[in-house]
Amino acid sequence: RVLRGRPRDLAGRRVVVSAGGTREAIDPVRFLGNRSTGLQGYALARTAAARGAEVTLVAANVALPDPAGATVVRAESAAQLREAVLAASAGADVVVMAAAVADFRPADRHDVKIKKTDGEPEPIRLTKNPDILAELGELRRAAREAAGDPAPAGRVAVDPAVIVGFAAETHDVLANGQAKLARKGCDLLVVNQVGEGRAFGTPDNAATVLVAGGEPVEVPLGPKEDVADAVWDLVAARLP
Ligand code: CTP
Ligand code: CA
Repeated sequence: RVLRGRPRDLAGRRVVVSAGGTREAIDPVRFLGNRSTGLQGYALARTAAARGAEVTLVAANVALPDPAGATVVRAESAAQLREAVLAASAGADVVVMAAAVADFRPADRHDVKIKKTDGEPEPIRLTKNPDILAELGELRRAAREAAGDPAPAGRVAVDPAVIVGFAAETHDVLANGQAKLARKGCDLLVVNQVGEGRAFGTPDNAATVLVAGGEPVEVPLGPKEDVADAVWDLVAARLP
């Protein structure tokens, strides 16, 4: 797909996009994962670069070619993705959390492979992962509260003008999405209806983009670039 005819409305802007799905280690050979392929996140990175942005793509377990013009940073677990996203977000104008981040990880990672034994297997105890999107919202709030105070030496604030979240919902899509937008403190929330072969691993997507303080925007079923461009249109309109 040739990316022609796009506005250069993100020129000079620093954009961070996370993509793919995290893997949470159980032992050296096994993990808990999810079905995200990274296609939507990569479409976002590609189209942002085509619109002139300087793009850092934080990719979790994605088997796709690097998008032209983007700097790609790899992460495996939610903890690694968090480190990479927060580092890239210092001084960024826009952060888009398209990655499917595991909500939970095994509480104990076995150093050696778990062996089959005669008895029943031990249950795998889970513990909560940090919510990266919510943390970005909190860091921005803190940065704005501290505005005017002298900046700590050598530290660049995480204060993106626009924070975008994604939400995969199977039911009560709009009500759950609105609640999530408010809870996470983001500006835009791209809501996909998942299940029944929709969204995961397919080149097409349909979405509703919820806008903080505005009307939702419907993106009809089409290439994932269409959803990406609809997001960048809304982002560009909110940049100072
Ligand atoms: N997200 C995140 N860190 C997590 C979990 C999710 O940054 N630990 C981000 C995702 O990248 C996405 C958004 O939060 O942009 C919403 O993810 P979703 O799974 O829909 O929301 P949750 O708050 O985890 O709620 P639930 O899974 O219970 O619906
Ligand atoms: Ca979740």
